[in-house]
Amino acid sequence: MRKFLLAGLAVLLGLGAAAQQVIIVGTSADWPPFEWVDANGNYVGFDMDLMRLIAALHGYQIEIQDIGFDALIPALEAGRIDIAAAGMTITAERAERVDFSAPYWSADQGVLVKEDSELNLATALSLGHKVGAQLGTTQAEWLEEAVAAGADITVELYERNELGIMDLVAGRIDVFVADTPVARTFTKLYPVKMIGIIITGEELGFAVQKGDPKGLLPLINSGIARLKELGAWDFLVQAYFGGDLEKITACYAEARGLLEAGDLVGYARTLADCMTE
Ligand code: ARG
Repeated sequence: MRKFLLAGLAVLLGLGAAAQQVIIVGTSADWPPFEWVDANGNYVGFDMDLMRLIAALHGYQIEIQDIGFDALIPALEAGRIDIAAAGMTITAERAERVDFSAPYWSADQGVLVKEDSELNLATALSLGHKVGAQLGTTQAEWLEEAVAAGADITVELYERNELGIMDLVAGRIDVFVADTPVARTFTKLYPVKMIGIIITGEELGFAVQKGDPKGLLPLINSGIARLKELGAWDFLVQAYFGGDLEKITACYAEARGLLEAGDLVGYARTLADCMTE
């Protein structure tokens, strides 16, 4: 009898292996609508909610750590985080160091200037202008390649995006480059405008340690598929890509009880309704 109980327990533990552990999700919470921090100090955004909902679907816990974009891949390699959820572009170079989920979003690069600037796409990226981007990103890489190809610009790289945007607003740099959905969001949150798009055709994915030792990629990929089937995905898209992000603190506070109660679709729907009303 005892033996059977133990065997049963082992099976339960085996099945729920992921449920027993806390999965550490690393991010760079400076990239709305994918990830940022609301006025109550909660990590909010499309990526953050996907991570929460996928964890809830599979019954494991997550802990979110804001470690900055440039630190994510080294942290995955060192096993300090389990997933990088940070609007990360899937690139061949990165795929040598980490493994990626299926792509979940697409982006190009949006070029931002101050609201009252007269620069256009051609003048912005020449004439000795100071152009900012976040350290370690595909934006930074694009700008450095442009310089190598002879573009007359000075590149300023920032660990945190909010510092880059603040420098843009203060006139310390002339231009800032960010993923298109993020650039669009910055135009709603700061006195900046988007003067053009550099078409790079990037696909964003969630990254895990090379070889996926914790078996997280199938959970992430099937989780995304399930959220689409349930309709929660569409609500999250509506909330974050179509809604008023300044409402997030109130909306997240209103909706999160549903998430805690396990009502994933109700959570996403409430968030979408609240952000778009
Ligand atoms: N998509 C770009 C890249 O992968 C920028 C991502 C920046 N993400 C962030 N959470 N700050 O390089």
